[in-house]
Amino acid sequence: MRVDVVTIFPEYLAPLELSLIGKARTSGTLELAVHDLRQWTHDVHRTVDDTPYGGGPGMVMRPEPWGQALDALAGPDTHLIVPSPAGAPFTQATARALAEDKHLMFACGRYEGIDQRVFDHAAARMRVSEVSLGDYVLFGGEVAVLVVLEAVTRLLPGVLGNADSLLDESHADGVLEAPMYTKPPSWRGLDVPEILRSGDHGRIARWRREQALERTAARRPDLIAALERSRPEHEAS
Ligand code: ADE
Repeated sequence: MRVDVVTIFPEYLAPLELSLIGKARTSGTLELAVHDLRQWTHDVHRTVDDTPYGGGPGMVMRPEPWGQALDALAGPDTHLIVPSPAGAPFTQATARALAEDKHLMFACGRYEGIDQRVFDHAAARMRVSEVSLGDYVLFGGEVAVLVVLEAVTRLLPGVLGNADSLLDESHADGVLEAPMYTKPPSWRGLDVPEILRSGDHGRIARWRREQALERTAARRPDLIAALERSRPEHEAS
């Protein structure tokens, strides 16, 4: 997969050198470049923003540098991703869909956002998706890009040593994962549930499913409701 990130703070994306994303880049699974938006400015101050039409506080990113960045980097397979608190919620399903794309281009907005005409112009040429990490506001899109790229990269073939770990994790099947334990069997007076040490794989699987459903009902009743809505009629109890 090819990924281009455009930002006025390239240093913010430094963690993309590390750990499994760094490894995916070295192995060629992920071909990633980070670009400074200011290279597409042409005035001495390298201006990227201006006051909003219609008034209001803050500044808006001007369209010209973004237009040139897209002209330089986008191609026929590009999916433009714009992190924004006004975007559609980013979920594991979004990550799975993006992992199928050939080229992701991220536009990191700052201030009050990017001039809307950038997206209207791009939308006639490529897929454009605004995505939100959640119902809160960050300074800009850079941290959201780190999150989205981490969620997407771990789904790329060959990135996780054991692809089975993708099957049991939270959100793989619409529920949160069951609690996990490792050695020692007893720690500070707390014991690992006996069933997990029983070797009975059928009982363990049933216990984990119950725990997962209990946790999900307690923490994310919205997910249980969605699961029930998605169940075929004849399965409903
Ligand atoms: N940029 C600012 N806030 C954001 C959010 N909640 N999600 C994604 N990008 C953002």
